[in-house]
Amino acid sequence: GDVAQAVSTGRLPGWDRVEELVQEAHARHRDRAEGAVADYIPVLAEADPRLFGVVVAETSGDLHAAGDADAAFTIQSISKAFVYALVCEAYGHEVVRDRVGVNNTGLPFNSVIAVELNDGHPMNPMVNAGAIATTALLPGGTPDEQWAHLAAGLARFAGRTLEVDPVVYESEAATNQRNRAIARLLESYGRIDADPLEVVDVYTRQCAIRVTARDLAVMGATLADGGVHPVTGERVVSAQVCRDTLAVLAATGMYERSGEWLFEIGVPAKSGVSGGIVAIAPGKGAIGTFSPPIDPAGNSVRGRLATAHLSRTLGLNVF
Ligand code: DON
Repeated sequence: GDVAQAVSTGRLPGWDRVEELVQEAHARHRDRAEGAVADYIPVLAEADPRLFGVVVAETSGDLHAAGDADAAFTIQSISKAFVYALVCEAYGHEVVRDRVGVNNTGLPFNSVIAVELNDGHPMNPMVNAGAIATTALLPGGTPDEQWAHLAAGLARFAGRTLEVDPVVYESEAATNQRNRAIARLLESYGRIDADPLEVVDVYTRQCAIRVTARDLAVMGATLADGGVHPVTGERVVSAQVCRDTLAVLAATGMYERSGEWLFEIGVPAKSGVSGGIVAIAPGKGAIGTFSPPIDPAGNSVRGRLATAHLSRTLGLNVF
């Protein structure tokens, strides 16, 4: 990068200029043309590749936004982070570690062979197999009850009710044979107790929840704030659950690029194929970005560049 990286000291080198730096992160990368809009879920291919929003939410509740901060898109894999937190809240550290795992598979997010190589253990809650196994653990006796728990929990993270995009849900439900196969494979290894296809349906719905870059920033700031929503003041999850979730995101949140992301940007983060990224600076705040063109690992190109700029200039790198 062309911006000097400030060392995190607890004092925030750029925080007095945060508003200006958010505008700068947006302006610098608005015209980037790299990456391609995801098309393996047919309707995602229709996204406008020019959309680009950047938002910083401070744990104080102050928000700073540039560009398409309020453009709605489906949360996709970013849901995995927040559903993981809800399941950790319900079952605790040990159960979730043993049942779902906390390690990077080093393989693509929809890998089947990763499941096979690990005797059916999902290993990583931030890829599809681990996320399906996590969703299967949601409290509730029926898929509807599990969905209600999930939707209420994500709404508490966002501080508002979140809707499902019915068109994206239908498009993905009609084309998610691979996720159904992964769920059946987990079932064959005795790794899911619930009906695998019902679990995939809840998972597909969670991925189709509509959010904005502003929502992502606020949801991330709740994790940065030890589980207390910085605007509503509501406790959503415990501080320990935030720590567990952020540790998992650091190791796995950016797929096979997680090491590179930590090396260059130095904050736990989670991306989704529709172009969202949430990056969390513990104790300080979070960055939510949205721009549909993604790199081969599934991470938004402009989102990565804007987050890198803000991490460097605000001194967010945790190392
Ligand atoms: O299950 C899927 O493939 C999608 N609903 C989510 C994948 C995703 O967002 C991966 N992201 N980078």
